[in-house]
Amino acid sequence: MSIEIRHLTHIYDVGTLGETKALDKIDLTIKKGNVFGLVGGIGSGKSTLASLIAGLEKPTGGRITIDGEPPCPGKNVGILFQQPEDFFFEKTLFRDMASGLLHSGLTEDEVDERIHSTLDLIGLGRQILDQSPFHLNRGTLRLAAFASVLAMRPGVLILDEPTASLDPKSRKRMLEVIEHISGDITIIYISHRLQEVVAVSEHLAVLDGGKVTFKGTVPGYLDWAAGQDGGEYLPVLSQVMYRLYGLGFDVDPDVTCLDDAVEQIRQSLEKT
Ligand SMILES: Nc1ncnc2c1ncn2[C@@H]1O[C@H](COP(=O)(O)OP(=O)(O)OP(=O)(O)O)[C@@H](O)[C@H]1O
Ligand SMILES: [Mg+2]
Repeated sequence: MSIEIRHLTHIYDVGTLGETKALDKIDLTIKKGNVFGLVGGIGSGKSTLASLIAGLEKPTGGRITIDGEPPCPGKNVGILFQQPEDFFFEKTLFRDMASGLLHSGLTEDEVDERIHSTLDLIGLGRQILDQSPFHLNRGTLRLAAFASVLAMRPGVLILDEPTASLDPKSRKRMLEVIEHISGDITIIYISHRLQEVVAVSEHLAVLDGGKVTFKGTVPGYLDWAAGQDGGEYLPVLSQVMYRLYGLGFDVDPDVTCLDDAVEQIRQSLEKT
């Protein structure tokens, strides 16, 4: 499903002393089956945009459509909140995962099938379903929360900091799952981890003070970020590659994968 965002503005607490313009005339088009990265500093409006696309709040101005329709949570769009493990409350993981699906009108057999097929897709064993969410480790629980959202089969999936506070192994697994499911689902990937965003996304946008300051492809983003004062939007690997490129090494500064970067540096050294 593709997403059209036009002149989107969102103001919190309108008419009060605390009035805050969180988003200011945002225009974005997100293509079907793309992983679209969304980056920006603290308070730049990422989660506000996420909750508007997820249909959890109505914008104060402008509009969002998903394949021409307004966002409808649980129908055409799903969201994995930051720290989703805080939302588990049932005695078993199965009951937690099943509640949203039963609400959507599926039969018990259909719910079983959905949960099992989604766990298979994510690579989680079915034995965890009988366990208490409070006894599972954070990495497993994060993937289980992801499975709960995926089980609703949304056409658009928003992931708000999906790898935050995960150990390296769980983070790697989460990124593998995202790569695996992308193509079928349109994914919006929000993260402060620039290296992850450029590795996983095809297109991305940068928010600053509620405005879009960059939108485009990953190579376009790296060129843009390299030209910014301080270079704070440039992932560390790119900083190294741009530095080497500037020193005259024959490397592509826009490379985003560590193995490719090492190979390019090796070949460049062989030539000298
Ligand atoms: N529910 C709310 N009520 C009032 N103001 C809010 C609310 N949620 C966010 N804001 C304000 O809107 C602006 C954008 O916040 P938002 O949470 O969207 O930023 P963010 O980019 O997700 O930040 P972070 O990187 O910290 O997650 C901030 O100024 C924030 O204080
Ligand atoms: Mg946020």
